[in-house]
Amino acid sequence: MSKKVVLITGASSGFGKFTALELIKKGYIVYGAARRVEQMNELVSAGGKAIKMDVTQDDSVKSGVDQIIEKEGRIDALVNNAGFGSYGFIETTNIDHMKRMYDVNVWGLVRVSQHVLPHMRKMQKGSIVNISSIVGKVSTAFLGFYASSKHAVEALSDAMRQEVKRFGINVSIVEPGAFSTGFDDVVLKELEAVNPGEAYQPIVDNFIPYFKKMYEKAPSPEPVVNAIIKAIEEKNPKTRYAVGMDAKGGIMMKGLLGDRTFDNMMLGQMKMK
Ligand SMILES: NC(=O)c1ccc[n+]([C@@H]2O[C@H](COP(=O)([O-])OP(=O)(O)OC[C@H]3O[C@@H](n4cnc5c(N)ncnc54)[C@H](OP(=O)(O)O)[C@@H]3O)[C@@H](O)[C@H]2O)c1
Repeated sequence: MSKKVVLITGASSGFGKFTALELIKKGYIVYGAARRVEQMNELVSAGGKAIKMDVTQDDSVKSGVDQIIEKEGRIDALVNNAGFGSYGFIETTNIDHMKRMYDVNVWGLVRVSQHVLPHMRKMQKGSIVNISSIVGKVSTAFLGFYASSKHAVEALSDAMRQEVKRFGINVSIVEPGAFSTGFDDVVLKELEAVNPGEAYQPIVDNFIPYFKKMYEKAPSPEPVVNAIIKAIEEKNPKTRYAVGMDAKGGIMMKGLLGDRTFDNMMLGQMKMK
C-alpha cells in the first residue's frame, strides 16, 4: 500500500511538530506547515517536508495545498492544529486584537479545510483532526475570547463531521488540557499587549503566576500526539478525544456541577474571588 500523505498545520512547534516527527517515524509522507519554516529543520532532517504557510492568508494556504497535490496527488489526513491563545477581559479588550486570534484559530481551520476537502471528496476518503482545547467545552473569566474561538472549533467540527460523512471523510476533535509546548510563551507575549484597566489589573497580577506555575508542571505532549495519531489511523475514530487529567476532569466537573458551583471553583482556583 502506498504511504499516507498528511498535512499538519502549526508544525513548527509543540503538538504539530511532535506529531509530524512521530508520523515520519511511522512511515507517513508528512508535510508540516507554519510561518516559521526555519523552525521545521528538524522535521526536514527526519524526512518530512516543510511548507511556508500562514493560515490567515488564502493565497498562502492555496499554494501550500496545491504544492502537495502536484507532488503527491492526494492528501489522506489533515491536522488543523495551528492556533494560539490570547487572553483578555470582555469589558476592556480591543476587538481587533482578538480578531487576529479568530483569524488563525477559527478562519484558519476553515480556510485550510476548504482547500483540502475537495481533494478528499474526490478520493471519497480522508481524515481531518481539529485541535480544540478543554476550553472548547468550558469557559472561564479572562479566557473568554480564546475559549470562544475553541467553542467555535467544536461547533464547526461537529457540522463538518456530519457534512462530509457521506464522502467517507472522518472528522475528530482533540481537546487537550495544559501541555508543555510553546503555547504558554505565546500567551505571556500576547499579555504584554493587554491593558486590562485598573479594575481588572489585580486579577491579571494574580493570574500570571498561577498560569506560569500551571505550565511549569504541565506534562509533555505525547498523550496529545497519540490521540491525534489514533484519530488518523482508526477506521472509526472517536468524535472527541479529551486528553489530560485537567481536560477530562474539567469537562466532567462542568457537567456534574451547576454553573454557579463551577464558577466558584474556577474563581477560587484562579484567585479571582
Ligand atoms: N499547549 C496547550 O496547553 C494547549 C492546550 C489546548 C489546546 N492547545 C492548542 O493546540 C494547538 C497547537 O498549539 P501548541 O500548544 O502546540 O502551541 P505552539 O507550540 O505555540 O504551536 C503553535 C503552532 O501554531 C502555528 N501558528 C500560529 N499562527 C499561525 C498562522 N497564522 N499560520 C500558520 N501557523 C500558525 C505556529 O507556527 P508559526 O508561528 O511558525 O506560524 C506553531 O507551529 C493550538 O491550536 C492550541 O490552541 C494547546
